Amino acid sequence: MNGNSGLRQFHRWTSIVFTAAVIFNTIMLVIGRQATWVGLTALFPLILLMLTGLYMFALPYLAKSRTPSRASDVA
Ligand code: HEM
Repeated sequence: MNGNSGLRQFHRWTSIVFTAAVIFNTIMLVIGRQATWVGLTALFPLILLMLTGLYMFALPYLAKSRTPSRASDVA
Protein backbone atom coordinates (compact mmCIF):
# COMPACT_ATOMS: atom_id res chain seq x y z
CA MET A 1 0.00 0.00 0.00
CA ASN A 2 1.57 3.31 -1.00
CA GLY A 3 1.00 6.70 0.61
CA ASN A 4 -1.81 7.72 -1.71
CA SER A 5 -3.95 4.64 -1.13
CA GLY A 6 -3.40 5.13 2.61
CA LEU A 7 -4.73 8.67 2.20
CA ARG A 8 -7.71 7.37 0.19
CA GLN A 9 -8.51 4.91 3.00
CA PHE A 10 -8.23 7.74 5.53
CA HIS A 11 -10.64 9.88 3.45
CA ARG A 12 -12.98 6.91 3.12
CA TRP A 13 -13.19 6.17 6.87
CA THR A 14 -13.29 9.83 7.84
CA SER A 15 -16.39 10.11 5.66
CA ILE A 16 -18.07 7.49 7.92
CA VAL A 17 -17.07 9.46 11.04
CA PHE A 18 -18.46 12.62 9.39
CA THR A 19 -21.73 10.86 8.50
CA ALA A 20 -22.15 9.66 12.10
CA ALA A 21 -21.47 13.22 13.32
CA VAL A 22 -24.14 14.64 10.97
CA ILE A 23 -26.68 12.14 12.38
CA PHE A 24 -25.59 13.04 15.94
CA ASN A 25 -25.95 16.77 15.12
CA THR A 26 -29.45 16.21 13.71
CA ILE A 27 -30.57 14.30 16.83
CA MET A 28 -29.15 16.97 19.15
CA LEU A 29 -30.89 19.69 17.10
CA VAL A 30 -34.26 17.89 17.23
CA ILE A 31 -34.13 17.32 21.01
CA GLY A 32 -33.11 20.96 21.52
CA ARG A 33 -29.58 20.35 22.81
CA GLN A 34 -27.60 22.07 20.08
CA ALA A 35 -24.23 23.43 21.28
CA THR A 36 -20.94 24.61 19.82
CA TRP A 37 -19.08 21.38 20.71
CA VAL A 38 -21.79 19.34 18.95
CA GLY A 39 -21.23 21.31 15.75
CA LEU A 40 -17.47 20.85 16.06
CA THR A 41 -17.84 17.04 16.05
CA ALA A 42 -18.94 17.37 12.40
CA LEU A 43 -16.74 20.32 11.44
CA PHE A 44 -13.47 18.65 12.46
CA PRO A 45 -13.84 15.51 10.24
CA LEU A 46 -15.21 17.76 7.46
CA ILE A 47 -12.02 19.85 7.53
CA LEU A 48 -9.93 16.62 7.34
CA LEU A 49 -12.09 15.46 4.41
CA MET A 50 -11.63 18.79 2.64
CA LEU A 51 -7.82 18.77 3.02
CA THR A 52 -7.33 15.12 1.98
CA GLY A 53 -10.00 15.48 -0.75
CA LEU A 54 -8.39 18.57 -2.29
CA TYR A 55 -5.02 16.76 -2.24
CA MET A 56 -6.52 13.70 -4.00
CA PHE A 57 -8.15 16.04 -6.52
CA ALA A 58 -4.78 17.65 -7.29
CA LEU A 59 -2.86 14.32 -7.55
CA PRO A 60 -3.48 13.57 -11.27
CA TYR A 61 -2.44 17.12 -12.22
CA LEU A 62 0.71 16.93 -10.07
CA ALA A 63 1.59 13.56 -11.67
CA LYS A 64 1.10 14.98 -15.20
CA SER A 65 3.39 17.91 -14.56
CA ARG A 66 6.15 15.49 -13.47
CA THR A 67 5.73 13.02 -16.37
CA PRO A 68 6.64 14.16 -19.91
CA SER A 69 3.55 13.55 -22.08
CA ARG A 70 4.95 14.38 -25.56
CA ALA A 71 7.98 13.09 -27.42
CA SER A 72 9.24 16.67 -27.80
CA ASP A 73 9.35 17.00 -24.01
CA VAL A 74 11.68 14.01 -23.67
CA ALA A 75 14.36 15.27 -26.06
C1 HEM B 1 -15.05 18.50 1.86
C2 HEM B 1 -14.52 18.41 0.68
C3 HEM B 1 -14.25 17.12 -0.06
C4 HEM B 1 -13.42 17.03 -1.13
C5 HEM B 1 -12.62 18.19 -1.76
C6 HEM B 1 -13.42 15.65 -1.57
C7 HEM B 1 -12.70 15.16 -2.65
C8 HEM B 1 -12.62 13.85 -3.02
C9 HEM B 1 -11.81 13.33 -4.12
C10 HEM B 1 -10.95 14.19 -5.06
C11 HEM B 1 -11.96 11.99 -4.15
C12 HEM B 1 -11.27 11.01 -5.13
C13 HEM B 1 -12.14 10.86 -6.36
C14 HEM B 1 -11.41 9.97 -7.36
O1 HEM B 1 -10.56 10.48 -8.09
O2 HEM B 1 -11.69 8.77 -7.38
C15 HEM B 1 -12.88 11.63 -3.08
C16 HEM B 1 -13.27 10.33 -2.81
C17 HEM B 1 -14.19 10.01 -1.84
N1 HEM B 1 -14.86 10.88 -1.02
FE1 HEM B 1 -14.49 12.87 -0.83
N2 HEM B 1 -14.25 14.91 -0.76
C18 HEM B 1 -14.78 15.77 0.16
C19 HEM B 1 -15.70 15.43 1.15
C20 HEM B 1 -16.28 14.19 1.29
C21 HEM B 1 -17.41 13.89 2.14
C22 HEM B 1 -18.16 14.95 2.99
C23 HEM B 1 -17.66 12.55 2.01
C24 HEM B 1 -18.73 11.70 2.64
C25 HEM B 1 -19.31 11.98 3.80
C26 HEM B 1 -16.67 12.00 1.09
C27 HEM B 1 -16.57 10.67 0.73
C28 HEM B 1 -15.70 10.16 -0.20
C29 HEM B 1 -15.55 8.74 -0.51
C30 HEM B 1 -16.29 7.57 0.17
C31 HEM B 1 -14.60 8.66 -1.53
C32 HEM B 1 -14.09 7.37 -2.20
C33 HEM B 1 -12.85 6.91 -1.44
C34 HEM B 1 -12.29 5.61 -2.02
O3 HEM B 1 -11.84 5.62 -3.17
O4 HEM B 1 -12.29 4.62 -1.32
N3 HEM B 1 -15.84 13.03 0.66
N4 HEM B 1 -13.26 12.77 -2.42
